[in-house]
Amino acid sequence: MSLKNKVALVTGASSGMGRAICLALAENGAKIVSCDLRAEANPSGYETDREIATADLVIKNGGEAIFQRVDISDAGQCESAFSTAISKFGRVDIVVNCAGYWEPFRDFVDEDDVLWGKMAAVNTLGTARISRLAIRQFLKQEVDPAWGSRGRIVNISSCAAGIAFPGEVAYSATKASVNHMTRAGAMDHAKDSININCVSPGVVATGMARQNIENKDIFALMERSTPWPRIGTAGDIAGVVLFLCLPPSQWMTGQVLAVDGGMTLGVPP
Ligand SMILES: NC(=O)c1ccc[n+]([C@@H]2O[C@H](COP(=O)([O-])OP(=O)(O)OC[C@H]3O[C@@H](n4cnc5c(N)ncnc54)[C@H](O)[C@@H]3O)[C@@H](O)[C@H]2O)c1
Repeated sequence: MSLKNKVALVTGASSGMGRAICLALAENGAKIVSCDLRAEANPSGYETDREIATADLVIKNGGEAIFQRVDISDAGQCESAFSTAISKFGRVDIVVNCAGYWEPFRDFVDEDDVLWGKMAAVNTLGTARISRLAIRQFLKQEVDPAWGSRGRIVNISSCAAGIAFPGEVAYSATKASVNHMTRAGAMDHAKDSININCVSPGVVATGMARQNIENKDIFALMERSTPWPRIGTAGDIAGVVLFLCLPPSQWMTGQVLAVDGGMTLGVPP
């Protein structure tokens, strides 16, 4: 229970990776503020217990959690999420920026400003906004010497941020901004003992990816470009996020860890 008495605010927490991250953090003692557009899991998800909301599942497993309705593209709702977390649990120690927006593949020429606006509002501005609120809160708290930090942020980007995947220029560009805000933000706040790291997933079986996984041609391309013999699960990502929140990773900051079955290594055989 290395995260006992820690409070973790997770966005995109109702489904997929965000949900698995909440469960992993709670299993290690963290109290959870589960933030999402809605409490219900994405109906296309692969969770077998989708009918139970994340916060309820944490409580059922013996942990503490609340649900907070938040659209991270809305500044007021993000501020409310932090004030609710403080009034309920008194502090926030860990923030995981997992909420993300994706739209089906299309060529660059067919993208428009509306699409770019939505991607930027959620993936870039939403992640930056939640991170700033987190840092402001962390700065009001002391460094925990046993944990090694004043607070931790873990962002979720995408392997498409580092390599060009066909048909998702706007998504890739906004996820690349998440990678770089990880590095640049970590540089500013290392002096404050605030760790900012990022996990960059490959193809992971979640509701967001289901239509690609079920499309024979797209899935064949994804399998071909993933050297490991299977695609990822939400648990593969949650395990690495958990590591980035535990004491042994306290001297890591500004890192973008690919968790992608080798997708970004190079040309597969
Ligand atoms: N599934 C993949 O293959 C894959 C690959 C690389 C990166 N990602 C990224 O992983 C993250 C998690 O996605 P997932 O695959 O678990 O999908 P998911 O659909 O299972 O979960 C995403 C959750 O984010 C929530 N969300 C979306 N927009 C939001 C907003 N504006 N405010 C608050 N919550 C919002 C959704 O309601 C949903 O519950 C995303 O950032 C996504 O871009 C996914």
